[in-house]
Amino acid sequence: MANNKKRFDKSASVGRASSRASNGGSQMARGDARPTISKLDLVRAAAKAREGAVSPYSKFKVGAALLTKSGEIIGGANVESASYGLTCCAERIVLFKALTDGKKNFVAVAVVARCDGGPMPCGACRQLLAEYAPDAKVFIADSDDLKKVKEFTVRGLLPRAFVLVS
Ligand code: THU
Repeated sequence: MANNKKRFDKSASVGRASSRASNGGSQMARGDARPTISKLDLVRAAAKAREGAVSPYSKFKVGAALLTKSGEIIGGANVESASYGLTCCAERIVLFKALTDGKKNFVAVAVVARCDGGPMPCGACRQLLAEYAPDAKVFIADSDDLKKVKEFTVRGLLPRAFVLVS
């Protein structure tokens, strides 16, 4: 049915790849040379980024992927320190990578780890996401079941985020 198709397309696609981004496996949209990026594409990018995790202490690997409005995907993973408190989560690593590379206008972030239901971002990461990716959707998945994606929003995950009033 035409209506159903439209709704499905709207929820399935979270953006369009930029001509610079490589998105192997994305589907091509009719009438546009740039492939659409689905939730699953972004989740798969997070799973790929997870391979770069440096987590010798917890052995818990987390991958994250940010999607920009212009269709670029940036990946990152958690990095741990022998001084445990210095450990940095995948969400912050990917955000710092993207920001310091001049990226902005983040429309979605995916986070993947091997745990039932997938890893929910910690409070610190929610604060950073609220500051730098306030309009983003958040996709969460277990690395053993990438197709089962939980969907949230940054706003929903951290209502009343801290803001610095000057
Ligand atoms: N971790 C993340 O990367 N993201 C989260 O949202 C929660 C936890 C990492 C930090 C640490 O390297 C490992 O998972 C165990 O806490």
